[in-house]
Amino acid sequence: MPLQLVQGDISRERTCAVVTAANKELVGGGGVDGAIHRAAGPELLRAIRRIGGTPTGTAVITPAFGLERQGVRFVIHAVGPVWRGGGQGEADLLAGAYRESLRLVAEHGCDSVALPAISTGVYGYPLPQAAGVTMRTIHAFLAGRPSLSVRLVLYGEETMRVFQEAQVQWEAEAPRSRVQGNDAL
Ligand code: AR6
Repeated sequence: MPLQLVQGDISRERTCAVVTAANKELVGGGGVDGAIHRAAGPELLRAIRRIGGTPTGTAVITPAFGLERQGVRFVIHAVGPVWRGGGQGEADLLAGAYRESLRLVAEHGCDSVALPAISTGVYGYPLPQAAGVTMRTIHAFLAGRPSLSVRLVLYGEETMRVFQEAQVQWEAEAPRSRVQGNDAL
């Protein structure tokens, strides 16, 4: 199964790349970013500060520093949108943050990546909507790269439950979209 949902702390992952939920100023933060910075050490903050910033809906890549001890080679700093009611392009920006992260993973020769539920903490993106966008975006990317192993690492039971529901819904809808796709050929 190229996409796995797991409940836990992403800073303990041993995948080739680990994605964090950053802000566009790249100044480091709390939540999942705090956990990854604590595990990677102060060099990580110095590295992203040298990059200086990246727009919402994009991502940048750095070495993993202290996380290299557990086999991680890269940290990808993805900037999701702040939820402003859903009419400000949030879904496209969230999809962009995931797509750009996965593109960087593939470009740097990684065969595995762990991602968090971007924007669903401080940035307030409602879980069901975020889960739908996340699932569609990751599966669309994986359709072209089935050898990439993706772990969605979800913090807490509620987040896990909502993403599992979105996974079930995606599986139910996927055959229909494949049929529609075939019809179009
Ligand atoms: N492992 C996995 N997921 C986690 C962990 C962890 N150790 N800790 C929290 N989460 P957030 P955002 C979950 O707030 O909403 C930062 O400070 C959390 O439960 O970390 O994108 C940045 O600097 C939630 O489901 O990121 C930005 O300023 C998810 O990770 C801002 O917060 C994302 O929550 C970004 O906000």
